[in-house]
Amino acid sequence: MDRIRIVGGRTLEGSIKISGAKNAALPLMIASLLTRETLTLENTPSVADVGMLLQILSHHGVDYSVDGRRPGDEPHAARTLHLAARRIVDITAPYDLVSKMRASFWVIAPLLARMGEARVSLPGGCAIGTRPVDLLLMALEKLGVSIEIEAGYVHAWAPKGLIGGEINFPKITVGGTHTAMMAASLARGHTLITNAAREPEVADVAACLVKMGAKIKGVGQATLEIEGVGALSGAHHTVLPDRIETGTYAMAVAMAGGDVLLERAQPGLLQSALDILSQAGAEISPTNEGIRVRRDGAGISAVDVTTAPFPGFPTDLQAQFMALMTKAKGRSRITETIFENRFMHVQELARLGARIKLDGDVALVDGVSELQGAPVMATDLRASVSLVIAALAARGESIVNRVYHLDRGFEHLEKKLGGCGAIIERIGGSN
Ligand code: UD1
Repeated sequence: MDRIRIVGGRTLEGSIKISGAKNAALPLMIASLLTRETLTLENTPSVADVGMLLQILSHHGVDYSVDGRRPGDEPHAARTLHLAARRIVDITAPYDLVSKMRASFWVIAPLLARMGEARVSLPGGCAIGTRPVDLLLMALEKLGVSIEIEAGYVHAWAPKGLIGGEINFPKITVGGTHTAMMAASLARGHTLITNAAREPEVADVAACLVKMGAKIKGVGQATLEIEGVGALSGAHHTVLPDRIETGTYAMAVAMAGGDVLLERAQPGLLQSALDILSQAGAEISPTNEGIRVRRDGAGISAVDVTTAPFPGFPTDLQAQFMALMTKAKGRSRITETIFENRFMHVQELARLGARIKLDGDVALVDGVSELQGAPVMATDLRASVSLVIAALAARGESIVNRVYHLDRGFEHLEKKLGGCGAIIERIGGSN
């Protein structure tokens, strides 16, 4: 298992190219199942989750090719993907595939739309809370789908095809909105979706569906109106920049100090997080090429944060922000409202000397003047990168173990940070 070794104390100077958003690339790839024609996706990130989803999609019959692979990249590392589901060969998504990546559950919508039936394994428990799929199933039922849970599988069928309906989400769900949009695009008649997720990745998927011939009104808004069509066509789409990667590096610069241009980053995708970072003492300036983030000698101020659906502060940046607050002046109160148990990074940050108290969904972080390097363990994708951020500002050496969590969602992290002067290297082999 690879590890990452970091020696803290360097400021970061230079520029980092922001990759395409993993959380848009995954549902966009799944959308390829909606059509017999080729869907071309540019700017897909070279991350393990994309490679994993390619394997899952090929199990259902998607033929794919990958352009722009670089020497030394992992197999299936991606740039431009061409995906074609001319024939769906399997309507079952088995446990061993779905359990590896939760988002693969979303294949249920296109399988139903194309084949009238799907058998998809329940994703099961997850390290950041129970993460149920009840709302995804509710949305499908509103579109005329019958559902039975059998031996850990969702068996869903719609012998007369999908039929437009009204879907009102009692809670905002990204996966639920993707599922509803994809199914409704090929349903007979009109669908109204209210309280839809407004995350930029949802809007990116909707924009791609529109290019494929879907009739969707209200892209990017909480109310979506979809007029079903008989078939969708191929399309060419460029994945939007990753706002979580952007926010992560912005927080790394705020933590370590320095001056870094985040190339291709779009401020509008993460304004709430940038506002919080400014309050914490970072200088944020949008430029023509991206976002410039600076922090000089000034210290980090404590700021309170509550996670919320877009346009609020993203839960996927909560762990990284907590890492920053471990060195702030004073106490910061961080409230997690989206996922239960999303505080697993707390005990690892404590190993670096952070002072954090947990009280239900609130973490109280008392800033310390110095963190100390230590061996730490990555527990999930976002938690693991929070340890990297803390280690950049810790005295001495830290080893982050289990970096396969990082590789699921961050493209060439050590190269990007190393290119800005951080002392960071990947160590191969077992731990
Ligand atoms: C997506 C993102 C993930 C991000 C999350 C919230 C991808 C691949 N993943 O995950 O990185 O952290 O959005 O922004 O895009 N819920 C239910 N029932 C359901 C579905 C969800 O109760 O059927 C709950 C969840 O437990 C959670 C909340 O709704 O409390 C939001 O979850 P959701 O937006 O669905 O997250 P994902 O789509 O899984």
